[in-house]
Amino acid sequence: MNGLLELLEESAAAIRARVPDAAPEVALVLGSGLAGAVRLLEDPRALPLADIPHVPTPSVSGHPGRLVFGRVGRLRLGVLQGRLHTYEGWSAAQTAFPVRLLITLGARVVVLTNASGGVREGLRAGDWMVITDQLNLSGKNPLEGPNDARVGPRFPDLSQAYDPGLRGLLLRAADAAGLPLQEGVYAMMSGPSYETPAEIRMLRTLGADAVGMSTVPEVIAAVHMGARVACLSCVTNAAAGLGGKLSHAEVEATAREAEDGGVRILRAFLDLLAGSAGPG
Ligand code: HPA
Repeated sequence: MNGLLELLEESAAAIRARVPDAAPEVALVLGSGLAGAVRLLEDPRALPLADIPHVPTPSVSGHPGRLVFGRVGRLRLGVLQGRLHTYEGWSAAQTAFPVRLLITLGARVVVLTNASGGVREGLRAGDWMVITDQLNLSGKNPLEGPNDARVGPRFPDLSQAYDPGLRGLLLRAADAAGLPLQEGVYAMMSGPSYETPAEIRMLRTLGADAVGMSTVPEVIAAVHMGARVACLSCVTNAAAGLGGKLSHAEVEATAREAEDGGVRILRAFLDLLAGSAGPG
């Protein structure tokens, strides 16, 4: 049978042929909030996504995606720079494929980063937030279609999708870095338009603290494969109707300003993870 497992193993073999010791313990997905965190890597080896079979590659490339393998202290990392979004036209399953690939290569812990709009009162532009749970309002799920039971179960449990132990480590890491860290529920909307003020009122009623256009498919796929997941979100703006007009330029500018703090939290987190029972 040519199922998902065969596709993942072919992609993994192509990577190992180029980077023989690509055996990450931790997968790190860098979204708009933390793209610069790749500088944490020692001995980085980068591979364009375009060189890896079965990996969807952005057709309009300003930021061509790549995988970068390297170490942070004792930990081996596989970093995805330039994630895929469903609003670009990729299916949820396609956007999650690079994360699945890093898990296939060995990662047992998946750390995702993203940018979000603050829905809860009190969340301010530039805040960092550890995601405690998610609302999948995208209308999409990466597990739609046939299930390859060798990869994961048909009906995975999401009741602890964001690993409580890893969340605790992120909170300790922020403390060690001397930075405040918020906690909250992330709602995924499909985008690419920003939400309306009415949608933000709806999200608040539904229990969302922050809103964004990514992450949820990757989290579902990672949990499907049995990985432990954590996510650090950069609140780049007050959501629609709660502040001024929204602009992508403002989102990017705030993310750039907040990045140093996020990199410090991430570094402290990886040190704690290496010092704990290990990523497994
Ligand atoms: N909405 C959706 N996605 C986002 C936002 C927002 O306000 N800010 C950053 N990503």
